[in-house]
Amino acid sequence: MCGIVGYIGNKRACSVLIEGLKRLEYRGYDSAGVCVFSGEALHIRKATGRVAEVEALACADRDIQAGTCGIAHTRWATHGEPNEVNAHPHCNHDNRIAVVHNGIIENYVTLKQFLASKGCVFRSQTDTEVLSHLISEFYEDGADSLEEAVQAALREVSGTYGIAVVCSDEPDKIVVARKGSPLIVGVGSDEYIVASDAAAIIEHTANVVYLNDNEMAVITRDGMRTMTVDNVPVTKEVQQIEWSLEQIAKGGYEHFMLKEIMEQPEAVRMSLGGRLDLREMRVKLGGLEKVSRDLVRARKVILTGCGTAWHAALVGEYLFEDLARIPTEVEYASEFRYRNPIVDDGSLVIALSQSGETADTLAALREAREKGALALGIVNAVGSTIARETDAGVYLHAGPEIGVASTKAFTCQLVVETLIALMLGRRRFMSQPTMDQYMQALTRIPEQIERVLEQSGLVRQIVAEHVDRDNWLFLGRGYNYPVALEGALKLKEISYIHAEGLPAAEMKHGPIALIHEGMPVVFIAPRCSTYEKILGNIEEVRARRGRIIAVATEGDTGIARYCDHVIYVPDCPVPLQPILTVVPLQLMAYHAAVARGCNVDKPRNLAKSVTVE
Ligand code: M6R
Repeated sequence: MCGIVGYIGNKRACSVLIEGLKRLEYRGYDSAGVCVFSGEALHIRKATGRVAEVEALACADRDIQAGTCGIAHTRWATHGEPNEVNAHPHCNHDNRIAVVHNGIIENYVTLKQFLASKGCVFRSQTDTEVLSHLISEFYEDGADSLEEAVQAALREVSGTYGIAVVCSDEPDKIVVARKGSPLIVGVGSDEYIVASDAAAIIEHTANVVYLNDNEMAVITRDGMRTMTVDNVPVTKEVQQIEWSLEQIAKGGYEHFMLKEIMEQPEAVRMSLGGRLDLREMRVKLGGLEKVSRDLVRARKVILTGCGTAWHAALVGEYLFEDLARIPTEVEYASEFRYRNPIVDDGSLVIALSQSGETADTLAALREAREKGALALGIVNAVGSTIARETDAGVYLHAGPEIGVASTKAFTCQLVVETLIALMLGRRRFMSQPTMDQYMQALTRIPEQIERVLEQSGLVRQIVAEHVDRDNWLFLGRGYNYPVALEGALKLKEISYIHAEGLPAAEMKHGPIALIHEGMPVVFIAPRCSTYEKILGNIEEVRARRGRIIAVATEGDTGIARYCDHVIYVPDCPVPLQPILTVVPLQLMAYHAAVARGCNVDKPRNLAKSVTVE
């Protein structure tokens, strides 16, 4: 996904910009570019492929090396193919103004026609180039400053943007603005670093200013002014980034994904941290205190998210109905605003998002609030847009998740959903002894995940036997049906093996036709009320010579009779099972991707954070 970096200070801007872009590489991109002001003009270098390509070009350019102010970008193509011309920065007609942009200018066709009628010649197929010409029009048409021209241009624009703009007539100034795409300004000593993601800032400073939608900043060597895009001054607080650079790095593992899988015991401890009051045996969620009365009064819950977060929402549906007895629905965030869902002031809408920046989830959240719902967030990235736009929420505290495949965010989402469901359940009907059991069981979960992780070698051996098979099925029931979906998603997104996840009983209604000799079928089959039924499903696959891999409860030696392989997880109450049963599936996907030589952390066509619709 696109990334922005900007720098003004005493260091060589090019180095800071390139390093910053490298820190954003994990988000996924297809081309990159830098623009540095040399003292006389803007100097731009762009390339497709890796940031290293741009670095090589920039290193060979003396003007670029000399500058101490500039902007840079990694692009993930939306309008126009990934090539050098479409890469950012984009300039106006005489290359005096350069713009980098994240987001989508929705009315770019209309604006392009208008600008073309005034003689503008477009070089690229992008929506962003429209912005550089539009700003230029206002600049040349009497705007008093670059920021005034930017404001005038943004008034004409509909869509989303995080932008950084420089102009050679106003050296040593960067104008930034945001609407719908994150932008953060790092405040160092005698320097400012602008970025769309804290990862590009943290090695320079932990002091940051988060811009809100419709806000902008004018940054010079003398300081920073913040205002709305309508030019109303706003005072912004300097906040501290919580994550260290070391946390963001791989920590000795070959891949971020493996590091994040292995970090799950600690991540879950962090998610639980201070929230289980074992003295009074109650759940304490500080982020929900101000809305606690509304929560208890809620008539229904709608959980929404995308991808893995949507799977966590599906588990949440079981948790909320089972533990809190509240009618609960799950909606794809991407569908929410287009299907006129029934939401009112008795509805509690909970948006789940690791990044807190997923465009569809944010749009669903806004729709829900507009319709009068109380909106909560279950978010990992502190200070992200979704976190800031909800009425209240609970952070995952899972630490940064860099691998494109979401792993620890999923388990922590389940933990936080369980905490909310328990808190509500206890206030509504749940007895204290039942509450006590769940709370005690939750405290055991981190150590139980550790035991599952110890079987990574076994999972690798099992996967090695089947990794050449191009079609896999994942089947589960009840709480473990969403886990089956998540297992299939993990496998397909990083190993490119086709996989389907299904409720096990659905198999007979069609997918059983797929089963043939040697096809790997993964059953999530821990002890639960439908255990006998899932054994029946296993038999059906066995009869058709599928190869069966089961995830089962420790001590269930009997299941081995029906299966080719068994991976055991510790026993725990059924509502907590998904937190354990998903872990072998994450390891399965990881080992399959490594065995097939895939780029585990940056799978093809995928971005970590999908900030466009
Ligand atoms: O940052 P979010 O949790 O909002 O992201 C949602 C999905 O884009 C994300 O979970 C995606 O499905 C991952 N690639 C799954 O591993």
